Amino acid sequence: MSQKEETKKEETKKEETKKEETKQEEKKEETKKQDLVTPYEIKAVSETGIDYDKLVDRFGASMINEEMIEKLTEIATKKGIKLHHWIRRGLYFCHHDLHRIIIDYEQGKPFFLYTGRGPSGQMHLGHLVSFILTKHFQDIFGCAVVVQMTDDEKYLWNRKFTQLQIHKFLMDNIKDIISVGFDPEKTFIFSDYQYIKEMYPNITKVQRAITFSQVKGTFGFTNSNNIGQVAFPAIQIVPCFSSTFPKIFENFPKSKSKKSRGFNCLIPCAIDQAPYFRQAREIAYRIKEKKPSLIYAKFFPALQGHKTKMSSSKQTTAIYLTDKPNQIKNKINKHAFSGGGRTKEEHEKFGADLTVDVPYAYLKVFLEDDELLEEIRVKYGNGTMGTVQVKRTLIETLQKIVKKHQETKAQVTDETVELFMTPRALKFD
Ligand code: TYM
Repeated sequence: MSQKEETKKEETKKEETKKEETKQEEKKEETKKQDLVTPYEIKAVSETGIDYDKLVDRFGASMINEEMIEKLTEIATKKGIKLHHWIRRGLYFCHHDLHRIIIDYEQGKPFFLYTGRGPSGQMHLGHLVSFILTKHFQDIFGCAVVVQMTDDEKYLWNRKFTQLQIHKFLMDNIKDIISVGFDPEKTFIFSDYQYIKEMYPNITKVQRAITFSQVKGTFGFTNSNNIGQVAFPAIQIVPCFSSTFPKIFENFPKSKSKKSRGFNCLIPCAIDQAPYFRQAREIAYRIKEKKPSLIYAKFFPALQGHKTKMSSSKQTTAIYLTDKPNQIKNKINKHAFSGGGRTKEEHEKFGADLTVDVPYAYLKVFLEDDELLEEIRVKYGNGTMGTVQVKRTLIETLQKIVKKHQETKAQVTDETVELFMTPRALKFD
């Protein structure tokens, strides 16, 4: 190659590198303006929290529409059950292919539900949301549930915990999950450390189908992530494929499809877990598995406000399932961010800003009484009801829920835990 040609080649290379750098910079700037939603970090740009409309577009999901709510109501009503207010009120707000599950149900085809928990400490009310909805779906669809406990994930992400400490959280959290009321004949709860052997063939299939570049893009991994973290997504992905559970689904009819194995799966979770399952949907057909369906909940905020995330290491950010009535009262009175006026006069004149008010956000989730909620929305919003009264209603509501949960949990024995964790053929309707 002549000197001239070489210089030209170098210049072109430099130009390309510069273009690539500018593109990366632009991407970084663009990302700064977006809400950050990953399984490891949630950061909203605005005071009112995450912009869910934009997120739905970004994640290629669809909003749950009226027609879908009507269908689900019809199915629930036939079982004599009222459709959960979380779907009616939009806490569960978007989905991937939920209609496939509804069609399977109507055609009498089997499908299963999959959800999970990373045992990194005591559970708070936010953690319970996905389990309550999964149990509700088990009731209305009569289907099997698998619950993954990612003890390995929490070890890889938390340097402060030993494996023994995580094991203790695991056993305690499983009691919380069982207390939600899952059917023991239709539910399998497993720890990754204990069940990994059964999952491993599928894990390696998924690992071979995903490149490092893809997980970097999806999860924001960098060179300083440990290699366990980089490989972990495959472990959370595989339980959505029914072929991971040959023994558990032994009684299920075999699928005849040549394109993909097994039967469909629906995953209820909050939107923070979406990156795992978007990745699963991307590679499913390549490894001849079915794309999982998902139903996503909004992330409900820390007591301190919509911009922040509840944290297992900061007790005052959330209501824990172990909290005593007085702790609940103090946390709400002291820490729940209020959108009410700063003075009595201001409140009476302008009312509360319900878009930033945390007690109202919590009531929307936990107060079942539609009429009382509407009264609070109107009166608190126009200033004829004060913050003290709204907080009092919230305190009473949560004290009741947490107390009932604690009483149920006290009845869950180690034998019951063992039963749920024993690999066995599950029943299905
Ligand atoms: P984890 O333990 O962080 O959370 C457990 C479940 O609770 C949801 N969640 C919330 N939902 C609403 N508001 C909140 N503030 C809130 N905080 C947590 C999470 O979305 C999740 O559904 N890696 C997972 C465990 C896992 C999993 C799964 C979760 C394994 N397989 C399949 C869902 C589906 C984790 O650490 O979740």
